[in-house]
Amino acid sequence: MKKFYITTAIDYANGKPHLGHAYEKVLTDVIARSRRMMGEEVHFLTGLDEHGQKVQQTARNRGIEPIELCDEAARDFQALCRDLEISNDDFIRTTEDRHKRVVRQILQKLYDEGQIYKAEYTGHYSTRVEQFLRERDRNEDGEWPDEYGEVVEITESNYFFKLGAYQDWLIGFLNDNPDFIFPRFRQKQVLEFLKDPINDLCISRPVERLAWGIPLPFDEEYVTYVWFDALVNYISAVGYGEERFEDYWPADFHVIGKDILVPPHAVYWPIMLKAAGVPLPRAILAHGWWLKSGQKMAKSTGNIVDPLDLIGEFGPDAFRYFVTREMNVGQDSNFSLDLFLSRYNSDLANDLGNLVSRTLNMIGRYCDGTVPGASIEGEPESELRALWEETRTGSAELYAEMQFHAALDKTFAFIRAINRYAEQRSPWKLAKSADPEDRRIVETALATMAEGVRLSVALLKPVMPGTADRVCGLLGMTGVREWEKDLTWSAVLEENRTAPSEILFPRPKSELSGS
Ligand code: MSP
Repeated sequence: MKKFYITTAIDYANGKPHLGHAYEKVLTDVIARSRRMMGEEVHFLTGLDEHGQKVQQTARNRGIEPIELCDEAARDFQALCRDLEISNDDFIRTTEDRHKRVVRQILQKLYDEGQIYKAEYTGHYSTRVEQFLRERDRNEDGEWPDEYGEVVEITESNYFFKLGAYQDWLIGFLNDNPDFIFPRFRQKQVLEFLKDPINDLCISRPVERLAWGIPLPFDEEYVTYVWFDALVNYISAVGYGEERFEDYWPADFHVIGKDILVPPHAVYWPIMLKAAGVPLPRAILAHGWWLKSGQKMAKSTGNIVDPLDLIGEFGPDAFRYFVTREMNVGQDSNFSLDLFLSRYNSDLANDLGNLVSRTLNMIGRYCDGTVPGASIEGEPESELRALWEETRTGSAELYAEMQFHAALDKTFAFIRAINRYAEQRSPWKLAKSADPEDRRIVETALATMAEGVRLSVALLKPVMPGTADRVCGLLGMTGVREWEKDLTWSAVLEENRTAPSEILFPRPKSELSGS
């Protein structure tokens, strides 16, 4: 059976993991985990982009071999995945043989078919983005924008891939498949880009300029252009050319940031696949950027957020919750520690954390730590149940539309409603009463609260997997596996032994939280 195959971009090996990388992995993980909860078999790939000028340069500056730099980065990025509880099934490194073999195979095929040719080229080359620039990339004053770094005019013989020959096909494809790129407005940007003729793509670099790359199979004097190399990871990781490839490909989603949509993922990649006779991925999801004080995060401005600081202090789930709750997928979002703390304190510590602890405390105190049964259904109970049905169906729709921030908003509205329900029933006021009717209210209230907690964490599981499992454990159950079953209001908890309450989201202590 074909798996649901989802990928992230592969990160450059010459830098440290930051908020942007962490966000993309969490977003992809939320999709992957939610699909698993829907009963699909998921294959989730992430990895590292290890070749190219920047890695060669950074290694040289540090006086180490490029592969040492890459090994170090692989450790850092794999640690990030682990610390964030990312459920990736594979981690590809472009220096691995399984990848290099496929890149060379594709290049050879295209070369043999006459889709790659050699030509002399003179152009303006940006060392920073490792691309030849076009005349229209200049500023109005004729200078090159700063983002390109040093720009030099060079003439060299190189190999070119006949990208331009596929322009009309690509335009037709995008027009016929308006859902290829999510959000839709990004697809329009691609079509806008395709209004001007596109040049053939220079896919080689002479070894004297760049040694750290995959040699072209038909001319070892050259290595492969890093984007051509990197994009192929999506098929090399799942056995292109082998029988098992069909169990994965086409990918269901490539999750990437908006900066690498045009041209790499929306132009080069579909054309490379088309030319090689490989089906296209089903969809590309281009997310927005995390900014800090409205600015792009960059080493040069020193405003990079280190996700590891936040994870270390607040745990992976708080971080995962924050980035998923704050970012409307596709748009940009501003990061601020104040906002992070306010979400942490109000949503997690107050709304969810307090609900769990008061529920467990009262079950411990009034019911000997055993979840009671609900024997009455008054107005407060039926209102809460009705709200649950709405939360459940509404969230499912929002998940399908990639509106994860809104799905979380809905879930937390339900959590707050359980807290209001608790106030309404105030079981603590009736707990000492000898009246059997009061006792039934106490038991019903605690059973209803426990069930509300169970359902809420089941719904939160893709975003907060650790918390969901922990709360299930406290409620005396093994965990949440399938939404179809686990999101149904039921009496599964009745007679479960509960654990003493724990503080799920402790108040922050270090200076990080105060600044
Ligand atoms: N190596 C290429 C991708 C090759 S994919 C075949 C690359 N690497 S990157 O390290 O620069 O970026 C990796 C991913 O992180 C990209 O999808 C990028 O958009 C994302 N982000 C980097 N900074 C970001 C933010 N500040 N905010 C959100 N995501 C951003 O590009």
